[in-house]
Formats: sequence, structure tokens, C-alpha cells
Amino acid sequence: MKSILIVGGSSGIGKSLVKVLLEKNKVISISRTSSKISHPNLTEHTCDVLNHILPELAVVDSIVYCPGSINLKPISRLNQEDFSNDFSINVLGAVKVVQHYLSILKNAINPSILMFSTVAVKMGMPFHASVAASKGAVEGLVKSLAAEFAPTIRVNAISPTLTDTPLAAKLLRNDKLKEMRADVHPLKKYLQPDEVAEMANFIISDKAMAFSGQVFEMDCGMVSLKI
Ligand SMILES: NC(=O)c1ccc[n+]([C@@H]2O[C@H](COP(=O)([O-])OP(=O)(O)OC[C@H]3O[C@@H](n4cnc5c(N)ncnc54)[C@H](OP(=O)(O)O)[C@@H]3O)[C@@H](O)[C@H]2O)c1
Repeated sequence: MKSILIVGGSSGIGKSLVKVLLEKNKVISISRTSSKISHPNLTEHTCDVLNHILPELAVVDSIVYCPGSINLKPISRLNQEDFSNDFSINVLGAVKVVQHYLSILKNAINPSILMFSTVAVKMGMPFHASVAASKGAVEGLVKSLAAEFAPTIRVNAISPTLTDTPLAAKLLRNDKLKEMRADVHPLKKYLQPDEVAEMANFIISDKAMAFSGQVFEMDCGMVSLKI
């Protein structure tokens, strides 16, 4: 049984992934609040990844770093603190986690790291300057670490479009908005967290041993198609 560390397993995509993984793995979740999932294979640590000391763990086979942000404002209303906060939670938190668990991850069989970007890196979207800048850095980090850790640790990212999680609740707050958001995608849908969790489960699994340094667009056609 593998031990998978999910930073951000209390909500959204991370919580869906916890549920998927629990069937066949030990799962360690780190977040500021509890997932309220009770399962013998789940250990939860209450910890703010930016401000607290990370828990010591004996075994980690894969790391999934979920914390992120959707801070959408015109550039005239974004201040240095917005950029700094987005960079901290998306990039520096991930760096801290990787550095902290690197030595035990190196001892695992087929270890891997998974992070999250956004479609707004590949496709320019108004009001995304801060989050797109930080997620662009996440993609750079993924590529660089994938090269540095090859052939031992695989490092990849998923770049989702809008996903129905607490983070995106404001963007999907009523039926009209939901219809509008689905309609801008060529596949006429946005994502559910379970779909992203299934993809994450595959990427960190031994079935995906051919992939490292990849950013997997889960874009419902948004970036890839013009119809
Ligand atoms: N949802 C979307 O539309 C969308 C689109 C594109 C990309 N993404 C990316 O996908 C990833 C997952 O997004 P999501 O929608 O699932 O987000 P979410 O619902 O906000 O979940 C984020 C998770 O991270 C944890 N977290 C946040 N700050 C933390 C901290 N300082 N210390 C420890 N844990 C922390 C949260 O738990 P606590 O609050 O309990 O700490 C929560 O479990 C993010 O990187 C996001 O940028 C999401």
C-alpha cells in the first residue's frame, strides 16, 4: 500500500482525491481544517503550510500540492500584496513541502509530485494577472524539478479550467452563471472535482511512469480548440 501526501485534502479537488485514493492507499492530508472524512487509511494533520512547521512523516510515496487561489481583479486594483500572497500559496508553499519531504520521497518506489496550474497560463484572460503569474511560476517549477529529479521522482502538473469547488464558488453562484461558464467552453461544460481527482490519481500512479515535466491541460476545449 502506497502512502500519498495530499496538501489540501480538506476541500475541493484535494478532498475528491482523498476519497479516490483511500480505497487502495494510505493517505496523509495536511490542511488548516478537517475534511471530516473518517477512514482507517486516512491521517489528517491540521497545519497552515505557509506558517507552521510541517509534520514529520515516516513514508511518503507521492506528494500532491493543492492549495491555490483565484484572485481576479483588474491590474489597477491588484497591489504588491496580492501578487505576494498568490506567489506564497501557489509557489512558496509547494517549494517548502517538496524541500521538507524530499529525502523520504527519494526512498520511495516510483515516487512522484503533482501540482496544479490553471488554463489562464496558456490562454490570456482578463483580470488573471496575479494568479496567472504565480501559476506560470508553478509550471516553471514543475519542469525544472522534473529535470532535476529524473529519473527518480516524476513531477507533473494538471492545469484545470473552472472546477466546481469552494474556491470557485463565487464564479458559479447561480444557475445563470453556471450556464454561462459552461457555454464558453467548446465542450459546453466545466469540471467537477471528481474528474480532476481521477486524472490526478492516474498521474501519480505507476500507470503513468512515462510522464514527467508535463502540464496536463484539463480545459474542456478552452485552450486547445477554436470552434
Ligand atoms: N477550482 C477551480 O476553478 C480551479 C481552476 C484552475 C486551477 N485550480 C487550482 O487547483 C488547485 C485546487 O483547487 P480547489 O478548487 O480544489 O481549491 P480549494 O477548494 O480552495 O481547496 C484548496 C485546499 O488547500 C488547502 N489550503 C489552502 N491554503 C492552505 C494553507 N495555507 N495550508 C494548508 N492547506 C491549505 C485548503 O484547506 P484549508 O482551507 O482547510 O486549509 C483546501 O483543502 C488549486 O491550486 C487551484 O489554484 C482550481
